[in-house]
Amino acid sequence: MKRLFTGIQSSGTLHIGNYFGALKPFLELSEGYQSMLMIADYHALTSLRDPEAMRTNIINVTKDYLAVGVNPATTTIFKQSNVPEHTELAWIFNCLVTVPFLSQAHAYKDKVAKGLEANAGLFTYPMLMAADILLYDTDVVPVGADQRQHIEYAREAATKFNIAFGDTFKEPKELIMENIATVPGTDGKKMSKSYGNTVPLFGTKDEIAKAVMSIVTDSSGERPEHVHAIHKLFKSDEELAPIYEEHRGKYKNLKEALIEDIDAIIAPMRAVRDEITDADVRTVLEEGAVRARAQTSIKMTDVRSKIGVAI
Ligand code: ADP
Ligand code: TRP
Repeated sequence: MKRLFTGIQSSGTLHIGNYFGALKPFLELSEGYQSMLMIADYHALTSLRDPEAMRTNIINVTKDYLAVGVNPATTTIFKQSNVPEHTELAWIFNCLVTVPFLSQAHAYKDKVAKGLEANAGLFTYPMLMAADILLYDTDVVPVGADQRQHIEYAREAATKFNIAFGDTFKEPKELIMENIATVPGTDGKKMSKSYGNTVPLFGTKDEIAKAVMSIVTDSSGERPEHVHAIHKLFKSDEELAPIYEEHRGKYKNLKEALIEDIDAIIAPMRAVRDEITDADVRTVLEEGAVRARAQTSIKMTDVRSKIGVAI
């Protein structure tokens, strides 16, 4: 059976970009694959230095995974820090790639340009991500378009290792839903936990309304493009066309329609989420870690032997 793998950082509250870019495609495919879903807490450490927020985010992201319908019996849900082989393999990859190669990473350059500290963890972030993916012989990685280059970097790490030490890692492929690719935020730029421009996935109806009402609109056009771009995720073009025709130029009405359509999809998932306890989360993560480590321990035994540190 082919392997499916994706991860989301526990750096804040999940938003509809995370859902449509990564979680929904993951859910749609997970039936036919052996699937793994990770909470990237060590990746979050590149930008989060607040232990209380880290703990809360880990619990919340896991609840979000469960609430959108990921089944922990068939999908291994785990957190990165519970499986030390991830950071171990990342170190090995760091020794195989060059500083100029890592310097070309768009995500790194964008984050530093936005004022994030250029710490060494942020710089080597793609090699930890490569380790996440390659440890499990992953075939497919559902992600948003912003992660395309990171998957290329994972393939590069696999190739570098395979050339140096013999065939060990499978080259993964990204799965990017072309019609979704990048969900815009309320400011029209990429929606991101770190940019304060999100529509929260599990916000209350009031929070959703507040976010939608703040979507920037361009008064020169006939259609509020950013509103429409988000609306398209919730309704088909055929359904939207008459609504946008009827309320042409009435941005407030269109935003109100969007709020209702978002809430109709989110409300049932929110009800499921309300029933999930912190204890449920701990059980899921403990079981997930055991399952993940069963695979990584075999893989890393092979890796340590191949690089010559196992004597
Ligand atoms: P964020 O940028 O909000 O911190 P992450 O970097 O943790 O989100 O991304 C987790 C997953 O969600 C990745 O697969 C990423 O590509 C996807 N994703 C994040 N933002 C968007 C977006 N605006 N549109 C589509 N996918 C997104
Ligand atoms: N870097 C990804 C992001 O910011 C999160 C992530 C970490 C990830 N490890 C992964 C995604 C492995 C897919 C596979 O979106």
